[in-house]
Amino acid sequence: MSHLEKYTTVASTLHWVVVILVCVLFGLGWFMTDLPPGPDRGFYFATHKSIGITLFVVMVFRLAWRLFNRPPPLELDVANWKILLAKNVHYTFYILLFVQPLTGYFSSSFSGYDTSFYGYPLPTWGWKHESFNTFFSAAHSLCSMAILICVTLHLAGVISHVYQEGVSFLDRMKPW
Ligand code: HEM
Ligand code: HEM
Repeated sequence: MSHLEKYTTVASTLHWVVVILVCVLFGLGWFMTDLPPGPDRGFYFATHKSIGITLFVVMVFRLAWRLFNRPPPLELDVANWKILLAKNVHYTFYILLFVQPLTGYFSSSFSGYDTSFYGYPLPTWGWKHESFNTFFSAAHSLCSMAILICVTLHLAGVISHVYQEGVSFLDRMKPW
């Protein structure tokens, strides 16, 4: 039975908070864009934007924590190419989870609608401009596809090593 080094409680708690927020944001994003114009649509857009900005703030803490706390060494026998792929997917997550809220904020800023954080008005970084709004909306949509690809690769990697050498790989990310 191998011994498995774990991520710190802070790192794993932040990991699962981000997973929940990302799932909620995808759910809201897909749901709200199908709604007809009206107060319901406005409510769900505002909620999506507030939760998206929350995720951005959580990511700032997560990145700061990650920079000062290196991940635990992996003592399982995993092929080098898999470790390299996993690391690159992790780095790509960090980049995408900053780029995604920013493209959303820009898209919102050029839409002509207000951007608020749970009702508290935030500065807009643009003016009503259709082409810029379309550009940032497309970037936001493209970035969400890239996140989905990374999630698929990430899950394939985690699931393929769930039980190895008598330990559960998932334990590395258990907050307790
Ligand atoms: C990591 C955080 C976020 C995720 C995962 C996310 C995800 C999504 C998804 C899946 C959609 C539907 C896109 C489509 O129709 O293809 C969407 C739409 C949208 N999101 Fe986000 N979002 C995030 C953050 C934000 C933030 C911070 C804002 C604004 C402050 C925002 C504003 C919007 C707006 C305005 C739309 C609808 C129109 C458009 O595509 O621009 N999002 N989001
Ligand atoms: C939105 C979905 C997800 C995102 C964005 C995400 C992101 C990440 C990131 C960035 C890391 C590297 C942590 C670091 O080095 O700081 C990581 C590690 C990990 N994640 Fe996820 N994750 C997601 C979903 C999941 C799910 C659903 C599971 C479990 C089924 C999972 C299990 C793990 C495990 C076990 C590790 C540790 C891998 C290792 O040993 O290096 N993740 N995740």
